[in-house]
Amino acid sequence: MIQKIVVVGAGTMGHGIAEVAALSGFRVGVIDVSWDFLNRAKDRIKESVVRLYEKGQLKEKAEDILARIEFNTSYDIAKDADFAIEAVPENLELKKKVFTTLDEIAPPHAILATNTSSIPISDIAEATKRKEKVIGMHFFNPPVIMKLVEVIPSKYTSEDVTNITVDLAKKMNKIPVRLKYEIPGFVSNRIFIRLLQEACREVESGEETIEEVDSAARNKLKLPMGLFELADYVGLDVVVDIWNVLTTRGTPDVKCSMYRNKVNEKNLGVKTGKGFYSYPSPGKYSKV
Ligand code: 3HC
Repeated sequence: MIQKIVVVGAGTMGHGIAEVAALSGFRVGVIDVSWDFLNRAKDRIKESVVRLYEKGQLKEKAEDILARIEFNTSYDIAKDADFAIEAVPENLELKKKVFTTLDEIAPPHAILATNTSSIPISDIAEATKRKEKVIGMHFFNPPVIMKLVEVIPSKYTSEDVTNITVDLAKKMNKIPVRLKYEIPGFVSNRIFIRLLQEACREVESGEETIEEVDSAARNKLKLPMGLFELADYVGLDVVVDIWNVLTTRGTPDVKCSMYRNKVNEKNLGVKTGKGFYSYPSPGKYSKV
């Protein structure tokens, strides 16, 4: 039975996943390398939970939910975890370090999940001695609002672990999509990156402007955001990371420099306050 969930990485995705777990009644531990990151995550979770409480969407008081979450720079809080979710940047070596540490500290029964957007789950599992208990559990930004969770077994993951993870996603009030195996980009990011490739092609060839592509996405495709706006929202560094993993793993590449140029300029989108659009408070999305 899962009682405590530990989230490693308190950034854009990690803090949201921790919030979702606490909203679903689990005890939660959040681990990151610095108290600056942890305090920022604490503030963002509080702001979001209070917003939901004030809208009458919670059955409990905001402070009771927040009291279920502990924060620490030490992995000691993973000692009694039943399930861990890693949400650190998309770097295989970094993720392997996290999994090796979790493997040493978390109890033997604990399942270790990764929120990776595109890295093969098997490569991460190989950093542990419990490969059959390692799985992909991919949330979408913002985790508190987005219903989809992709559950991705690796070639090592046991059927039981996959079933438990699918059940956990349902307990977290999400709609799980269970993949048969770890295809590059899973389901949604394969489509997402292809949309961004086409959007880039249209703009760089001079056929359309960024604003025209985004207006078509919002008003014809009925997406909640334009494609460049969504790229800003996800983070342009994340987009480039996923793009690189997909093309390395066989997805045909297209000529496009827009996303890489923004990353080279250190304009990463909402998180830095500037990407294809500008955001007055870095880290906070406001409609463009
Ligand atoms: N906590 C609590 N409530 C929140 C919230 C949060 N963090 N963020 C938004 N909300 C609520 C708002 O309060 C508002 O509620 P209301 O309708 O009751 O007033 C509602 O959500 C809508 O928010 P806003 O009015 O601020 O803004 P929008 O209507 O533009 O919605 C959005 C914002 C929910 C982000 C919407 O634009 C959206 O769904 N965008 C698409 C997001 C998406 O596609 N995400 C997936 C990206 S891909 C990914 O993550 C995978 C990775 O691997 C790359």
